Amino acid sequence: MKSYHKHLKSLLFFVSICMASAKAQDAATEQKITDLIGKMTIEEKVNMLHASSSFTSGGVPRLGIPELQMSDGPHGVRVEQGRGWNVVEGVNDAGTYLPTGNALAATWNPALGYQFGSVLGSEANARGKDVILGPGINIIRTPLNGRNFEYLSEDPYLISKMAVGTIKGIQDQGVSACLKHYAANNQETNRMTIDVNMSERALREIYLPGFKAAVMEGGVNTVMGAYNKFRGQWASHNYYLLNTILKREWAFKGPVISDWAATHNTIEAIYNGLDIEMGTEFSLKPFKGYNTFYLGDTVTTLVKEGKVKESIIDDKVRRILRTMFKTGMMDKSRKAGSFATKEHQQTALKIAEEAIVLLKNEAKILPLSAKKIKTIAVIGLNAFRPNAYGGGSSQIKATYEITPLEGIKNIAGDKIKVVYAQGYNVERGAKADAKLIAAAVAAAKKADVVIYVGGWVHGYDYKVWSDNAYDAEDTDKPDMNFPFGQDEVIKAVLAAKPNAIMVLTGGGPIDMTQWIDKAKTIVQFWYPGMEGGNALANILFGKINPSGKLPMSFPKKLEDSAPHKLGNYPGFKLVQNYTEDIYVGYRYFDTYKVAPQFAFGHGLSYTTFNYADLKVMAGADKKATATLTLKNTGKVAGAEVVQLYVKEQNPKIDRPEKELKSFKKVFLQPGESQQITFDLDATAFSYYDEIQAKWVMDAGKFDILVGSSSKDIRQTATVAF
Ligand code: BGC
Repeated sequence: MKSYHKHLKSLLFFVSICMASAKAQDAATEQKITDLIGKMTIEEKVNMLHASSSFTSGGVPRLGIPELQMSDGPHGVRVEQGRGWNVVEGVNDAGTYLPTGNALAATWNPALGYQFGSVLGSEANARGKDVILGPGINIIRTPLNGRNFEYLSEDPYLISKMAVGTIKGIQDQGVSACLKHYAANNQETNRMTIDVNMSERALREIYLPGFKAAVMEGGVNTVMGAYNKFRGQWASHNYYLLNTILKREWAFKGPVISDWAATHNTIEAIYNGLDIEMGTEFSLKPFKGYNTFYLGDTVTTLVKEGKVKESIIDDKVRRILRTMFKTGMMDKSRKAGSFATKEHQQTALKIAEEAIVLLKNEAKILPLSAKKIKTIAVIGLNAFRPNAYGGGSSQIKATYEITPLEGIKNIAGDKIKVVYAQGYNVERGAKADAKLIAAAVAAAKKADVVIYVGGWVHGYDYKVWSDNAYDAEDTDKPDMNFPFGQDEVIKAVLAAKPNAIMVLTGGGPIDMTQWIDKAKTIVQFWYPGMEGGNALANILFGKINPSGKLPMSFPKKLEDSAPHKLGNYPGFKLVQNYTEDIYVGYRYFDTYKVAPQFAFGHGLSYTTFNYADLKVMAGADKKATATLTLKNTGKVAGAEVVQLYVKEQNPKIDRPEKELKSFKKVFLQPGESQQITFDLDATAFSYYDEIQAKWVMDAGKFDILVGSSSKDIRQTATVAF
């Protein structure tokens, strides 16, 4: 006991020394910044507040202050555009293409978030970038949002855990993450004009927690303001979002960067918290130079005329310089990054393997046994199309991209014959082509195993913006139906081969109601990055046991989802009221008793898990500890995401049926069991009280629901406070 105390004492002493030295370092940096600002002219200061090219903001060469080099983001470093907007040919910009945001979130593995961030940060660094424009963490509100594939989840807790890991991973490589799009940018339809309104409670409980965690736990260096308006004021210079919440409540110390062409007004930009204006060349017609931006020469004039205090400008410059000092830009101390390495590709593979979700495996057709198969028919153009270039600003030139067809061929080797049938054409408005269907059916009939790969698409040529794309920036999907007449193809294939395996690409749910009762096996593939095809093949053939879980609910029909049922998506006269309030995703499905097609948190495994002995104990300070035992009761090793939801029994105000408050991904050998502990604090039991304007936890009883998905609760206990 004595030696324990001695150790604890020396540890505390060490921690206090570290904290004191960090404080001293901060103070020294702040002093250096003050000295630099003291030497700058107003013109030089203002030059730092706006773009100096498509992806740089201004520096002050005289004082050794470099330009800030930025790049998209968020699942790889964007194809090089130099100082303009055209793709620059002949540079080494073919790099690692990671699984996109919702694939990463489907791993439910924050450690992979960190590894994802490390790859991104390291490659951005190697490409000479200081800021990588990501992660994008807006709530997945409607299945139609064209950018859902970049975002993470419908649940703020899952977003928080994955975003914090990603940001730390990026920033530990010496570059800055740029958290986007702050805030309420949940659709692409009218994104540049729409005015979003929601209750304070919805804002605090659903739309902000991910951003808050990214700032306060992730320590993100920069934040991007969104395109839309929020409660009548542009998000990129919104006083409440930026000054009141981000900078004051959350004590954010870095710069706010506007989305590209999201700035509209000099005075608001000056006073409402914007620090760097980017991309306004798109909205100024004619464009006469970067100094004509809203935060350009006009600001210099206003300061010179004494109409704006210089200290307000100094604060903006200070925030930019802080980021520069923090990321080794001022003393050039940043360690070297690495680009397009084998290790990075292996990380992309590992994430993809944990991201793919086994939605249905009714007849246990999966995993396939290679020994029993002579011919595989792969059907569907999505098995053949690459995706890296697609989607808009997140486009990547990948070193390579293993498509599903290639992945299946890789694993089949020369013992299994793999035939391919296109099945459908990828063209807006294309209907089912009878000839292609006939060829697909013929191939299916001759094969032992049929794998259909279809669903949504990205555009795929980096020179062509969003060509035929559904999962893409600047556009929402028109509906939730399979494009290109695929329902007809699938029905024909299933009629010919009832055991056909369905593999679905895309950034979210798709209406499967026409054939789901007939399909025995369904796999959600997302956009899983450059190694996606190999990851898929490893899962289909049982080399990898699937462990992905849906980070969003899959409704049966679009009409079943909350913003379409209760909200006014896509908005009325450019006003978008989030009238479904806090009832987003499973909070809606569970509370309103609507059955989803596949529930939030759902995902099957080739093994089985037993949940037992859930116990919950209330502790001091409104804390509680839950323990339970998880056992792998099947024959193969596997991972389970154990999800803990909280339900207040008799709440004073309406609360969702249940809310995710903790989860753990646990890897177990066959027969192995493990005791799992969840530590909960008051945040797990609280709601946002609009009258008191704060989080409140009422005394009462709370059910602790632990399970394998939001619908598959295996153990329940109650705790009282
Ligand atoms: C997108 C951002 C992106 C920026 C720069 C905007 O259109 O909304 O996510 O980072 O362009 O490419």
